[in-house]
Amino acid sequence: MTATRIDGKAFAARLRTEIGAHVGSLKADHGITPGLAVVLVGEDPASQVYVRSKGKQTVEVGMKSFEHKLPADTSEEALLTLVGQLNADPAVNGILVQLPLPGHIDSDLVINAIDPAKDVDGFHISNVGLLGTGQKAMVPCTPLGCLMMLRDHHGSLSGLNAVVVGRSNIVGKPMAQLLLNDSCTVTIAHSRTRDIEDVTRRADIVVAAVGRPEMVTGDWIKPGATVIDVGINRIDDGLKEDETPKTRLVGDCHFDSCAEVAGAITPVPGGVGPMTIACLLANTLTATTRANGLPEPVGLTP
Ligand code: GUN
Repeated sequence: MTATRIDGKAFAARLRTEIGAHVGSLKADHGITPGLAVVLVGEDPASQVYVRSKGKQTVEVGMKSFEHKLPADTSEEALLTLVGQLNADPAVNGILVQLPLPGHIDSDLVINAIDPAKDVDGFHISNVGLLGTGQKAMVPCTPLGCLMMLRDHHGSLSGLNAVVVGRSNIVGKPMAQLLLNDSCTVTIAHSRTRDIEDVTRRADIVVAAVGRPEMVTGDWIKPGATVIDVGINRIDDGLKEDETPKTRLVGDCHFDSCAEVAGAITPVPGGVGPMTIACLLANTLTATTRANGLPEPVGLTP
C-alpha cells in the first residue's frame, strides 16, 4: 500500500470532542441543551443499529436524544402527526426520520413536512435548493463528512477534477454540489455512464457512493488521486471453523488495489461511516445555534 490512509474514525472522535465542548458552553452560558429526535418506523435491522448508535453518541456529546420507534404498519397520517409535534416542540432542535420508510408511506411527503430549520439530514427541498444556490442550508451528513476529510487532506479543493460515482439524493447529488461550491470541476458518473473507468481515471478526487461491493478497482484510479469510499457492504467471506457463514464489511472500492495507486484513501470500516454520525451531531448543534440567534461554531458547516 502506498496511499495515505484517511482515518475517519479519529477525525470523527476529534469532531465529537469539539461538539461536546460547544454543547457544554451552550448549557453553561445560555441554559440551552440541543435535542435530536430520531424516528424509526419498522424493524429493519441495519436501521436499528444506526439509530442505536446515533442515540448513544447524541447523549455522549451532552445533547438530549428523543427516540420514536413506531411499528411497521404505522399510517402515513400518524407519522405526519408525529413530525408536526416534533416541529412544534422547542426541546427538539433536530429531526431525523430514518430511511427507508415502509412502502405504504410517501417518503418525500414526510421529509418535506419536517421544519427545514430542524432538518438535520438536509433532505427537505428547501435545504436542497439552498445548497444548490450556494446559500446557508442544512447539509446532508455523509457528503458533509466527506467534504471535511477532503478539505483537511488537500487544503483548497479549487480547480481539482472530482468524479462522484453515484447519483442518489442522499449522497451523490449533494456531494457533487458541495464539491462544485468548493470550485472543483465535477462529474457525476452512474450506472449508465459509458467507459466509466476512463472518467474516474481523469479524477484528482473520486467519491464512490453506489452501494456495489468493491466495484472501483485500482485500474480506475489516477496515480496519486484521493479516493473517498462511501460504501458499506456486507459480503460473504467463506466459513468459520465451526462451518457457520462468515461475513465482512467492504466498501464500493476494492481497497488493496486502489491503495496501491491512490495518494490517499478512506478505509471501510473506519472512514466515512463514523463521520456521518459526527456530522449529524454537528448539524444538530448548528440548528440549535441558528434557532437561538447565537453565533455558529466555525468549521462545522461548509
Ligand atoms: N438511511 C441511510 N442513510 C440515511 C441518512 O443519512 N439519513 C436518514 N434519515 N436515513 C438514512
